Amino acid sequence: MRVTVSVIKADIGAIGGHTIPSAEVLGIVRERVEREHGKLLIDFYICHAGDDIAIIMTHTRGKDSPDIHQLAWDAFNKATVKAKAQGLYGAGQDLLKDAFSGNVRGLGPGSAEIELDERPSEALMVLLSDKCGPGAFNLPLYLAFTDPMYSPGLMLSEGLHDGFTLHIMDMDHTEGDRLIVLNAPERLYDIAALLRDTNRYAIEAIWSRKFPNEQAAAVGTTRLRNIAGRYVGKDDPPAVVRVQKIFPATEEFGPAFAVGAFVGGDTRGSHNLPLMPVPVNTPASTFFCCPMVSALGFSMHDGMLTAPSDLFADPFWNAVRDQIALKAMEMRRQGFFEPAMLPMSELEYGGIVARLRKLEQEFVVRKEAAKTPAGTE
Ligand code: 13P
Ligand code: MG
Ligand code: MG
Repeated sequence: MRVTVSVIKADIGAIGGHTIPSAEVLGIVRERVEREHGKLLIDFYICHAGDDIAIIMTHTRGKDSPDIHQLAWDAFNKATVKAKAQGLYGAGQDLLKDAFSGNVRGLGPGSAEIELDERPSEALMVLLSDKCGPGAFNLPLYLAFTDPMYSPGLMLSEGLHDGFTLHIMDMDHTEGDRLIVLNAPERLYDIAALLRDTNRYAIEAIWSRKFPNEQAAAVGTTRLRNIAGRYVGKDDPPAVVRVQKIFPATEEFGPAFAVGAFVGGDTRGSHNLPLMPVPVNTPASTFFCCPMVSALGFSMHDGMLTAPSDLFADPFWNAVRDQIALKAMEMRRQGFFEPAMLPMSELEYGGIVARLRKLEQEFVVRKEAAKTPAGTE
């Protein structure tokens, strides 16, 4: 059966800061989506990562379906009325436009969608993040899909041996978003050269090379600041990743996420801290809004989803989290000094640029310093 898995997420307000959505707001999103259960939707699941609500939907309308996107948009808008009535912080934060125009892309909510021919055992993973930018998944996905040190399946399984094709988005080009398509392993060094810069480049999709019709992963690459023209909140990407058989195994992603790589985000979206794997429905951390990621494992048949397996909830992750927390605390000791705070190029959508512009008037050029250095005349 040909099924589409769509994850559409938005931050529409949270309790006491950027923490968690209220139960009432979540309830309204659920109630609106549930009305389409068995009609527009085959199945759905709703949860949150920090203050971002995710609507996970299965259906047969394909990617970019206006009906599916409209459903999510309506659910978020309806629930925003409640968020405002409750005085939630940042109520309607990610709903940046007034009118729906066929697709949530460009309106604020993030989305990740995969259309697939169901395998007899369709295993997939939904990744949900909070307090980080779209490049936050670059390192774990790079390790799991291209590096046999992390993904022995690349050596051990014929289905993976040909490697994967990575679609990488340049999110910061003057003419707008642009895409490059590179094959691993041949172009590994080029892929690495781009993905290292998580503030500019993000994996958007990954495809199997042995089975070119099989998409392995889809990642949301919405940049709120590019839509709003100012800092309004972090992008907090979702992703859908198919696992097992011709794709890396679920457990091959674990050590890749356990690295806890530093990513941009955190407090005011302006800092670097390690990406912390956490259980589903975890509130954002009062420790400086450390970036976080949850992973839900699903099995799917005829588009029906099982209840999810919470992939970062087993006891092993407590030790991982302890280590990552130490890494985060160490970084925070240096406060606003780089690289704890993001470089100026990344802060231009916040207030610091206006402040520096004011300081410009107070600078005095030292005439001596402007002279030609001695010995070069
Ligand atoms: P969110 O993007 O999750 O709303 O976080 C924004 C922020 O600035 C936290 O300090
Ligand atoms: Mg928020
Ligand atoms: Mg958020």
